[in-house]
Amino acid sequence: MATPDIELGRKKLDWARSHMPVHAELRRLYGERRPLEGMTVAVCSHIEAKTGVLIETAAAAGARVLFAGSEPMSSQDDVVAALNAEEGITGYARRGATEKEFKAFHRKVLEQRPSFVLDDAAELTARLVHEYPETAARLAGMCEQTTTGVQRMQAMAREGRITFPAYAVNDTPMKRLFDNVHGTGESSLTNLLMCTNLLLAGKRVVVAGFGFCGRGVARKARGWGARVMVTEVDPRKALQAHMEGFEVGPMAEAARHGELFVTTTGNRDVLRREHFERMPDDAVISNAGHFNVEIDREALEDMAAAMREVRPGITEYRLADGRRLNVVAEGHLVNLAAPGSMGHPVEVMDQTFAVQLAAAVHLVEHREELGPGVHAVPDAVDRQVAELKLRTLGIAIDDLTEGQRRYVEAWRIEDINPDESEP
Ligand code: NAI
Repeated sequence: MATPDIELGRKKLDWARSHMPVHAELRRLYGERRPLEGMTVAVCSHIEAKTGVLIETAAAAGARVLFAGSEPMSSQDDVVAALNAEEGITGYARRGATEKEFKAFHRKVLEQRPSFVLDDAAELTARLVHEYPETAARLAGMCEQTTTGVQRMQAMAREGRITFPAYAVNDTPMKRLFDNVHGTGESSLTNLLMCTNLLLAGKRVVVAGFGFCGRGVARKARGWGARVMVTEVDPRKALQAHMEGFEVGPMAEAARHGELFVTTTGNRDVLRREHFERMPDDAVISNAGHFNVEIDREALEDMAAAMREVRPGITEYRLADGRRLNVVAEGHLVNLAAPGSMGHPVEVMDQTFAVQLAAAVHLVEHREELGPGVHAVPDAVDRQVAELKLRTLGIAIDDLTEGQRRYVEAWRIEDINPDESEP
């Protein structure tokens, strides 16, 4: 195993830091106030430079910070090494960690009894609840940054397994209208194109799922000249895609149509044997959902007469009938696990992690009132991050006048239309 290049890790952190002005402002504010003083915060996410800046900002807010990867393929060893050299920060992650190693990293964090968790896909929290009930019972709370994680937290809550307050950070406008749509849209396509070195213009692209991530991928692919078809299981999302001008149909049909596939559903086996049987020769298959379960690779392996790496990060499955199907990054997140991939653009993570941290500070300060369960992040917290972001962009907006404020809050006829109050 090569020794990680710590200087390169520092350079990556410097670059990210210098493009994350919202975090600079939070470091200034929280550095003075120290709202996380005395807390041990565990950060579980893709450990690359932007997450590094989140970790540094949590440390500046007074926390001792522990970290671990939220996905075995998405962390960067140079950044991990650079973070580990910083004071008050200790972490465990390695790109390409085996399943055993990955679990061991999580346990190392949990054995140090964190008092707060900033999680991605509820990976650390689920293990905490299962294996460390005493630490879970003392946990001040957690914040969850992705769709799959919020779903898991809600499942845990339904079974009465949550003894602490959790904020569904993913569900805030500042997170999912930007990170999921623009972040996943841009970074999935750019990394897919870099990894394959193929052209998008004119390609027949199939996007599975038209949720926040899927619509970002679909819209941006169309913007680059691709002919996009969408598959869905929710009739309203399917209608939305149709009315945005996308072709919509079942995967059985789309599989025949596609040259390039991107799954974004958060669900399993979205591409499976019956679809592989229909795909054209040389189709490229990738996933942008959190876990590498959306493409049934076992079925592909079963169908394949031969397999080989045709390019770094691309596995070619040669089927018995001679067709070749190419899977990118073994079905892991294409924007984080493909070779050379960097995840979301820096500016979008400046927003996402700012909401994650601002929500954490709010939760710590209001944990008694909140009580156990999954809660929505208060709108004021989200709005505050939006205002901060706009300020860093140098964009000013209007304020409601007093008359407008009264009008939008009114319901009595005489308040809405004073003329009508005349007899
Ligand atoms: P969402 O809930 O808004 O969208 C998912 C969509 O997939 C829904 O419209 C659902 O109806 C559809 N769907 C479910 N099963 C399907 C199937 N079998 N076939 C077709 N459509 C199906 O969720 P969102 O926010 O778009 O997230 C999707 C996944 O992406 C999650 O796993 C999330 O954690 C992950 N994610 C990945 C990011 C990345 O960096 N690559 C960033 C943010 C989220």
